[in-house]
Formats: sequence, structure tokens, C-alpha cells
Amino acid sequence: MTVIADGKEIAEKIYKNLKERVEKLKRKPVLSVVITEDNEAGKIYVRNKEHACEKIGIISQTTHFPANISESEILSKIEELNADVNTDAILIQLPLPSHIDSKKILNSISARKDADGFHYSNAGKMFTGQIPYSVACTPKGIIKLLDEYQINLKGLNTVILGRSDIVGKPVAQLLLQRDATVTICHSKTKNIDFYTKNADLIVVAIGKPKFLKADMIKDNAIIIDVGISKVNGKICGDVDFENVYSKASLITPVPGGIGPLTVAMLMQNTVELAEHNLITDDW
Ligand code: GUN
Repeated sequence: MTVIADGKEIAEKIYKNLKERVEKLKRKPVLSVVITEDNEAGKIYVRNKEHACEKIGIISQTTHFPANISESEILSKIEELNADVNTDAILIQLPLPSHIDSKKILNSISARKDADGFHYSNAGKMFTGQIPYSVACTPKGIIKLLDEYQINLKGLNTVILGRSDIVGKPVAQLLLQRDATVTICHSKTKNIDFYTKNADLIVVAIGKPKFLKADMIKDNAIIIDVGISKVNGKICGDVDFENVYSKASLITPVPGGIGPLTVAMLMQNTVELAEHNLITDDW
């Protein structure tokens, strides 16, 4: 029997725990989000994040900038948020308009307020086995889901499709930390089937709807679908779910799989940063 992983249920459990942690703080955590007006998909994510914040008692503040905003104006806003003692976490909704240097913007956020774990010092610490202030939300959510379903990653042959800074690269590191054998495939990889057919676990994060088919996987593979696209008005992932479902041992649906866990991990990162800011004060 194939297990359809329930990301929503796991997210609800996480929220319950975070709500209790928030109640112990001397004030509500504050997450500040910056988004530009041209980012239509981002607006949906930001609304989801705002709902999640409400649920657990995080104050969500969103700054909307026009698409023609200058780099220096965004940098000034971040400088202001970095200096504000009441701002615990900062998130820049990606993608930013093409005239903006995204990496420069992400690196200008104080590493101690980096809600996404994208600052080079947080990413670098994670990549070198040190403890970062935060870890990227989707990769962290993937590991959380695998833990909840008690998947022992040690020695598993894992294949990641996609090499983005947001998902592919960081999830590879987290899987390596758990002693998995990791292969990253990408748009220039020849004969992707060769890798996927031998994989015990496949993470698909390439943004190509229904890319992964049953004839590309082995029996009882674990399939993690990070994709989210709209095809003919219907939301679907990078995995051809109907086609792959019966051959997998565990599969994440879209929607309701990794998506809710990404948001839950953002909430967790925010609470952790606030706890450091308000309790530990060890920066
Ligand atoms: N855009 C797409 N995914 C992400 C993400 O994980 N974080 C941010 N900030 N923007 C995104």
C-alpha cells in the first residue's frame, strides 16, 4: 500500500507546539516580509504565510514595493529592519525584479534575522556542519516529513532533481548529514532515468509539471514532490501523481504535501529567531 504523506497534518502538529512556545515569550514574535508588486505567485505564498502567523500568534508585517523599486531603497528598508529590536525575522519574497541583485539583498539581512536561511553565513554554516541561525524552509520541511514517517536515510540512494539554492543544494546537504548517498541531477544531466531508476528516494524540484513518470522509478521508491504549477486551472506538482502513485512506497501530494511544511518551517524559523532575540540574547 502506498502512503500518501499528509503535510497538512504534520504542519498542524508543528503549529500547536509553536503556539505554546510563542505564549512563553514576553512579546509576540515579529516576521517582516518584503515583496515587490510584480510577484504574483509570491503574493499567494505571502497570504498563506500571514494566515499561518495569525494561527500561532506571530505578528506579520508586509512591505509591498513597486516593481521599479531601486536596489538601494530595498537595502534601506532592510537596514531599518535589521536595526529594529522588535523585528525578529525578515523574509524577502523571491523572485525580485531582474534589475535587482537578489544575492546582495539576501546577504544584507542580518544573519540573526534571516527567516529563510539564505544569507551566505547561514548557508555556509549549514554546508560546513556548523549550527546556523536558520535553515532553508523547504529542505527543512522535507527532512521533517521524512522523520515523521520514520524513514531511515542512512545509506539510502537519494536522487535530487534540481540544483537551486532554495531547494536542491540545501536539501542535498541535509540528506548528506543523515548519511544518505546523494546525487543531484539538473537540466544538463544526460539520461536522468539512469539515476532515478536506481533511487530509493527522489526529491523533485525542477518546476516542470508532471515530469516524473512511473517508468522512471523503481518499485517502492519514496517520492518527494516540491513542484507547484497550475495546469488547466488545476494545481499539480513535478510528479505525475496518478501515474506514479501505485509504484511508490510513499509519495507527497500537491497540494497538501511539502507546501504546508515549507510554511510551517518558516514559522518555526521565526519562533526560533525570536527566542534567541528575546530569551537567549547570546548574539
Ligand atoms: N520564492 C520561492 N520559494 C521561496 C522561498 O522559499 N523563500 C522566499 N523568500 N521566496 C521564495
